[in-house]
Amino acid sequence: MCNINLLILTLISILSTNVFVVKSEDPYLFYTWNVNYATLSPLGVPQQVIQINGKFPGPTINCTSNNNIVVNVFNHLYEPLLFTWNGIQQRKNSWQDGTLGTNCPIQPGTNFTYHFQVKDQIGSYFYYPTTALHRAAGGYGPLTVHSRDLIPVPFDRPEDDYTVLVGDWYSKGHSNLKKLLDGGRSLGRPDGIIINGKSGKSDGKDQPMFTMIPGKVYRYRICNVGMKNSINTRIQGHSMKLVEVEGSHTVQNVYDSLDVHLGQCYSVLVTADQTPKDYIFVASTRFTKTPLTATATIRYVGGKGPASATLPEAPVGWAWSLNQFRSFRWNLTASAARPNPQGSYHYGKINITRTIKFVNSAGSVDGKLRYAVNGVSHIDPETPVKLAEYFGVATKVFKYSLISDEPPSGAGDKITMAPNVITAIFRNFVEIIFENHEKSVQSWHLDGYSFFPVAIEPGRWTPDKRTKYNLIDAVSRHTVHVYPKSWAAVMTTLDNAGMWNLRSMLLERNYLGQQLYISVLSPENSLRDEYNMPDDNLLCGLVKNMANPKPYSI
Ligand SMILES: *[C@@H]1O[C@H](CO)[C@@H](O)[C@H](O)[C@H]1NC(C)=O
Ligand SMILES: *[C@@H]1O[C@H](CO)[C@@H](O)[C@H](O)[C@H]1NC(C)=O
Ligand SMILES: *[C@@H]1O[C@H](CO)[C@@H](O)[C@H](O)[C@H]1NC(C)=O
Ligand SMILES: *[C@@H]1O[C@H](CO)[C@@H](O)[C@H](O)[C@H]1NC(C)=O
Repeated sequence: MCNINLLILTLISILSTNVFVVKSEDPYLFYTWNVNYATLSPLGVPQQVIQINGKFPGPTINCTSNNNIVVNVFNHLYEPLLFTWNGIQQRKNSWQDGTLGTNCPIQPGTNFTYHFQVKDQIGSYFYYPTTALHRAAGGYGPLTVHSRDLIPVPFDRPEDDYTVLVGDWYSKGHSNLKKLLDGGRSLGRPDGIIINGKSGKSDGKDQPMFTMIPGKVYRYRICNVGMKNSINTRIQGHSMKLVEVEGSHTVQNVYDSLDVHLGQCYSVLVTADQTPKDYIFVASTRFTKTPLTATATIRYVGGKGPASATLPEAPVGWAWSLNQFRSFRWNLTASAARPNPQGSYHYGKINITRTIKFVNSAGSVDGKLRYAVNGVSHIDPETPVKLAEYFGVATKVFKYSLISDEPPSGAGDKITMAPNVITAIFRNFVEIIFENHEKSVQSWHLDGYSFFPVAIEPGRWTPDKRTKYNLIDAVSRHTVHVYPKSWAAVMTTLDNAGMWNLRSMLLERNYLGQQLYISVLSPENSLRDEYNMPDDNLLCGLVKNMANPKPYSI
């Protein structure tokens, strides 16, 4: 009887669960992907690339908030394969996250079906393979989430919507690159830049990549899908109006060029308001001694004449880049990603329950190059850590929390190799500090969440640096970069139960251990907080022949 309240609570939660049942009536988009190797010459030299349905980059997943996405992946490679959906939050559903800590890889000659709902996200994302060094062979593609018709978007519908996947590229081929890393060496410098799989060197033909009708406005969704370098993008004779960053509508500042760090996505509006002719879209590496550059032609419909041979110059130094970061503001009045659990966008008013500091380092173990977070270089056990945890055999596979929230100075001087998994309390509001003592720019991505990057500043972080935080209108996003000898602070509520990968987006660092998992467990193993493992989930390692554990209940 005293449980009447509990009963009511349960009813309420059943009702709210039903909201999701209703939502599962949302439209389904079905994709069948045949993934195979092919020989292409993105930089003018033939090499092995990964195509999806014969395309490189892969096909666009073009969807709308709340759509259900079903992707049946047929792996025709001769190596195991997984895809992750970079920035898609997978609410309650790390089962679909496609990392080696959450999923058993899809074996060659077999297929596996991802099914997930994009929920209330909007914006520009991309997917890519997380296995081996497959990202160095392509296998990536755009993932675009539109706002539902009734949800207002803070700008007029553009004439067209272009995705621009830029990234640095190696012509050695992913297998040779992997051999370098497995042998303890570095990948070295990339050989070029590609834009949507092309460098301009591959065919020599002056085909436009984009077209614009004079007077019209176009949306360009620019993502850096590369492996090592930050990239500056700019268009001859045109400015770019920033409207969206990784799922958040921004204050619409106008820029001559935009620094896009690894794993990041930006949407800009470009108005075709210049003399009708060709113009060049330029992408070039930042913070490198000799910049690598690629170009693509934008042609005005009915325009006359080639583009000018003079390319707009890239900015110099990282102070410029930092200032640009500081100018990004969330448009607080535009409808955007969901508010935080307190029901408001006032993240700056929530008390911090935990501060975690991550320090990246490079070093060697047994003479081989490794990268670490707080001194631990992650290795993926054969049994994915999520499955080991779910089946109750975690202690046989890894040890939780080898690293501490406050790494001692000098952590990272010595590197240990082990699965790197930390625990977190469901719904804690955390502050994460990324401290970069190295001379290169870092880029960090967290799966399962977006976060508020409240500051990026030079030097070392101390608690009094909190006075520098933007506690009002930082742009909620999923990837943050850190300049050399600098730190970045992000805040988020850990309200998405699951096993979530936090990773360096620099491919070599990621592959050689600069990543970890955050285990966010629902306290009562409740279906309200996390879905059960899907019936068709792949099993491997220790759990391969184990009976399914007791399912979660409401
Ligand atoms: C993508 O989806 C949007 C919204 O449904 C639609 O307007 C647009 O035409 C689609 N684009 C492509 C290339 O299919
Ligand atoms: C493999 O593909 C077939 C359809 O060709 C489908 O019926 C089956 O469910 C898929 N298997 C998995 C594990 O997704
Ligand atoms: C923010 O969004 C609102 C609502 O859509 C829009 O009216 C306003 O112009 C936007 N503000 C800026 C500064 O972009
Ligand atoms: C935050 O912490 C302060 C000081 O400990 C306390 O007075 C305040 O009530 C807390 N606010 C919330 C929303 O919990």
